Amino acid sequence: MTTLNTSTKLSPLKKLVKISAIAALFGASLTAFAAPVEIKFSHVVAENTPKGQMALKFKELVEQRLPGEYQVNVFPNSQLFGDNNELSALLLNDVQFVAPSLSKFERYTKKLQIFDLPFLFQDMDAVNRFQQSDAGQKLLNSMKRKGLIGLGYLHNGMKQFSASSPLVNPEDAKGKKFRIMASDVLAAQFQAIDAIPVKKPFSEVFTLLQTRAIDGQENTWSNIYSKKFYEVQSNITESNHGVLDYMVVTSNEFWKGLPGDKRKVIKASLDEAVAYGNEIAAAKVNKDKQAIIDSKRSEITYLNASQRAAWVASMKPVWAQFEEKIGKDLIDAAVASNQ
Ligand code: LMR
Repeated sequence: MTTLNTSTKLSPLKKLVKISAIAALFGASLTAFAAPVEIKFSHVVAENTPKGQMALKFKELVEQRLPGEYQVNVFPNSQLFGDNNELSALLLNDVQFVAPSLSKFERYTKKLQIFDLPFLFQDMDAVNRFQQSDAGQKLLNSMKRKGLIGLGYLHNGMKQFSASSPLVNPEDAKGKKFRIMASDVLAAQFQAIDAIPVKKPFSEVFTLLQTRAIDGQENTWSNIYSKKFYEVQSNITESNHGVLDYMVVTSNEFWKGLPGDKRKVIKASLDEAVAYGNEIAAAKVNKDKQAIIDSKRSEITYLNASQRAAWVASMKPVWAQFEEKIGKDLIDAAVASNQ
């Protein structure tokens, strides 16, 4: 019978060798049974959205490729953190991945305000070209000094206006309250049409609309559908006036702390998940719009050329207000992506 008694008849050296062997055995079995490292991914939207699906795909790929080593837990619907605290939670390492909309980084960089300029991008292909250009890729690193690392862009889509009355001409918005994301550019956009912008977190929008505390909001077809805004808004105007996309970010501290080989696998998994989320985003534009039309809960207004021109003329002066902070070169690069 093997005994672990090391106390008798062994020289000190032999004793040490034996103790080390036991410790190594014990250590190895501890490693074998060590709990996987938890990676938390928090977001504010529903699961049946481009971001919700991307996060789940990321979980699937990481756990498939690093089995037993990493576990990704996804928290949708502002369950863990909402708009007001997800980025500070990331910097505190209370969560390791978030993907806020590009409008929500204003406290960390003014450069990303470019994505909020109204009527800047003609469509999602132009948005994509800009994001993938050198100028767009450089923006991923624009918050590095603040401890945030941009790992990639994810699409949702173009924004539409919704309200409790028809919005055909810019004057129809006068005096009405619109919920906006926490962005000064978006505030200026609504002020440009004499409307009243109200900065509120995404988790509060449905109730604000339902109780008529606000009159309207702007969002993508996917968010209007998945959060049921169309059930409490009688009118939606297909304006495509701006973009709502995301940046997937992590903290410098977490990212640099990963072993190099694991970081590589995690990044590759994220890239694939983002590509998958982008496919969903493209499909959802028509799918979720059609579902809203079919529900007959909300009437859709399609702008003719002169109506659209009136919205553009009212809102485009906002560009000049922010040109200095954003940079003219960057705005010109974005405009050039519209070919
Ligand atoms: C919003 O606040 O309206 C959006 O940014 C929500 C989201 O993440 O799509």
